[in-house]
Amino acid sequence: MASGTLSRQDALSCVGCRHACHILLYADTEAQLFEETPIRHILLMQMRFDGLLGFPGGFVDPSVETLEDGLSRELWEELGFSLSVTVDDHVNSCHTPSSSQLVAHFYARKMEEREIREVEKAAATTATDHGHEVMGMVRVPLYTLKGGRGLPNFLSHSFIGNCRCQLEDALLRFGLVPREELEMALQQAEQ
Ligand code: APR
Ligand code: MG
Ligand code: MG
Repeated sequence: MASGTLSRQDALSCVGCRHACHILLYADTEAQLFEETPIRHILLMQMRFDGLLGFPGGFVDPSVETLEDGLSRELWEELGFSLSVTVDDHVNSCHTPSSSQLVAHFYARKMEEREIREVEKAAATTATDHGHEVMGMVRVPLYTLKGGRGLPNFLSHSFIGNCRCQLEDALLRFGLVPREELEMALQQAEQ
């Protein structure tokens, strides 16, 4: 387990903690940008009501519902899409830097490109939170073009909580971007 992360069980035993659960939904794609640059994978994030980028999900009270049921409920509200999240989708849990009393639980689910399109469609049409808590879904550009276009520019935006760390960890963990490319993109993002 990476340093700073807690097991799901230890996280749940934290007395007085609030819990937030978020998920990365992603898929492989054969699509190319401008018919030459492989897009490789589709990763969904969202523009939040506060102007920050984040993953779909939200607060869950484990005394009322399981973390996974709570996350599934948040996904229904924010995406208008029914997805039954399970413990198998859990990636890690950690205290957030902003508050040691808030535990962030991160999940990931690989889908088919067709399913990701359905999520995007539902999020923009039937989701009750669309235009309220959620301003819209965005795909993460994973390629780097000249001048920092693509992933470096994306990483220079502002993210909620430790969501940017969750994104960087997931890119490496699931082999979505080679380590050297990510390190270069992170350097460019800071310039
Ligand atoms: N990683 C870590 N922490 C996160 C992440 C993330 N990816 N995303 C959000 N958080 C933290 C933020 O501090 C956030 O306020 O978890 C909290 C809950 O997540 P939200 O998705 O914002 O919660 P949600 O239940 O969907 O929305 C409730 O309405 O009343 C407002 O401000 C309140 O943000 C809250 C929202
Ligand atoms: Mg919500
Ligand atoms: Mg939310």
